[in-house]
Amino acid sequence: MTARRLRHDRMSAALAARDDRELDSAPAELAAAGSSLVLFLEYLADPVSAALTDPVGVERQLFEVVDFLRDRELLHMDGHFGNMRAAAGRIHLVDFGLVTSPRFDLSDAERGFVARNRDHDADYAAMRLVNWLVTTVCEAPSPADRNALVRRCADGDIPPGVPAAAAAVIARHAPAAARMNDFCWRLYDGELRVEYP
Ligand SMILES: Nc1ncnc2c1ncn2[C@@H]1O[C@H](COP(=O)(O)OP(=O)(O)OP(=O)(O)O)[C@@H](O)[C@H]1O
Ligand SMILES: [Mg+2]
Repeated sequence: MTARRLRHDRMSAALAARDDRELDSAPAELAAAGSSLVLFLEYLADPVSAALTDPVGVERQLFEVVDFLRDRELLHMDGHFGNMRAAAGRIHLVDFGLVTSPRFDLSDAERGFVARNRDHDADYAAMRLVNWLVTTVCEAPSPADRNALVRRCADGDIPPGVPAAAAAVIARHAPAAARMNDFCWRLYDGELRVEYP
């Protein structure tokens, strides 16, 4: 709580120090606005790697995040580990810059996109989880090797020697991870209109 208040104090000081001339150059609509909004975002210093420890704990937390989004009808669409942070032993999802929702004011095309991508965040979390585990416990020198390994796991063939806890997590999520890996592979290969799944 103290750390949070300190950070907010620093932000208040920064806002107070801001050159008021900035406001003079704001667009006319902004200048005529009857109210203003200042948005404060918590800064989380630690990368998620600090929280990537036991497979079952990471699985539970990632899918708690997925459930949180689903309960609020939010599609985050960018849940890579660079958009996650660690604080007090917990994983936090950040960067809601691509978020969409059926509750937003959407065009028909956007509404269709949201309907087709309802499971994107869940399957993307599965992909990040399984890719992390297989590359941590197995040899997968290239992304192509990794994808082949995940496909093999999805077919029920988990390499011997994978610790039991990790093997159980991989078994649960490898089918979704393999589908998402294939989709991302095609996307990164330049198929910009490829649809998931
Ligand atoms: N350390 C952090 N603590 C809290 N929120 C963060 C942190 N870093 C980023 N964010 C959130 O993510 C938003 C985007 O920053 P980010 O660093 O993810 O850049 P980016 O250009 O979106 O990168 P990428 O496309 O790889 O996700 C920020 O505006 C902020 O809301
Ligand atoms: Mg980001």
